[in-house]
Amino acid sequence: MPKVAIIGAGNVGSLAAMRIVEEAIADVVLIDIAKDIAKGKSLDLEDSLSVFRVDSKIKSTEDFSQVKDADVIVITAGFPRKPGMTREDLLNKNVEIIKDVALKIKSLNSKAVIIILTNPVDLMTQVFYKITNFDARKVIGLGASLDSARFANLISQELNVPVSKIDALVVGVHGKGMLPLARFTKVGGKILADLLDEKKINELTEATVSRGATIVAHLGSGSAYFAPSAAISEMVKAIIRDENKKTVASVKLNGEYGLKDIFIGVPVRLGKSGIKNIIELKLNSQEKDLFLKAAEELRKCTISV
Ligand code: APR
Repeated sequence: MPKVAIIGAGNVGSLAAMRIVEEAIADVVLIDIAKDIAKGKSLDLEDSLSVFRVDSKIKSTEDFSQVKDADVIVITAGFPRKPGMTREDLLNKNVEIIKDVALKIKSLNSKAVIIILTNPVDLMTQVFYKITNFDARKVIGLGASLDSARFANLISQELNVPVSKIDALVVGVHGKGMLPLARFTKVGGKILADLLDEKKINELTEATVSRGATIVAHLGSGSAYFAPSAAISEMVKAIIRDENKKTVASVKLNGEYGLKDIFIGVPVRLGKSGIKNIIELKLNSQEKDLFLKAAEELRKCTISV
């Protein structure tokens, strides 16, 4: 059975673990500095497996050496937002956690594909890459696939079309520079930009960008975890099963979209070795301007390590 290590057994990490073991995608080891919480959650999760007659294994530890034979390492360690906070507000606190985690993983496993959730995710993915200097195709930030799922859901509500008929695409930054793309989003095979007027599309775009904050405001403490964990298990599955899956992720650009040395959300194909290739969309001048502006703002926040 393949093995997935999840660093951070909080809301997002433990739900991702649940989805991965219940779907028998891989065995999971949950690692957290709060060892008792990780232990309690893994014991509880272990008990659920006989209900589903699934033979995957789940265990917990605070011992990082358990990452050494993992095929995929998911990083969900870090602080979530509180009401009124932006993802960018988490930068100073979470960068220290990512540095710590990256240094530990660096000496133990350079072969695994790494998926980073900790926010602000595009910047945290860049920090992880800079510290480890791992193969960039194996260092992936997860934000844009979650944003695309949110966009799809909101379109489905607006048009009263089943969500399964919607292929939504969001690129850019998992934060203020998020870019839902109506021209590249299909509803039952039709292009969204042809189905709604500009005003409605702008409303859906704004609702998508602020969806995470809306959820945080309702929760009162902590941030979203059902959709983020669903996005993790889909990404882990694509990697473990070498699906060559088309998705969106924050990856290091090397000349694509006219940009270099930046991690930002773009369409990619995913498989066992991580990013198989980056897909370059034919953006029109307005989309391109917005994408480049988002990248420029992101660069302003880049952290030296
Ligand atoms: N090593 C291991 N685990 C850590 C470390 C560390 N250095 N620092 C913190 N953690 C653990 C905490 O003990 C906690 O159990 O990370 C977990 C975070 O869990 P939650 O507080 O429930 O946060 P969660 O909602 O899961 O979000 C985690 O993912 O989506 C992003 O913005 C979100 O940055 C946040 C991250």
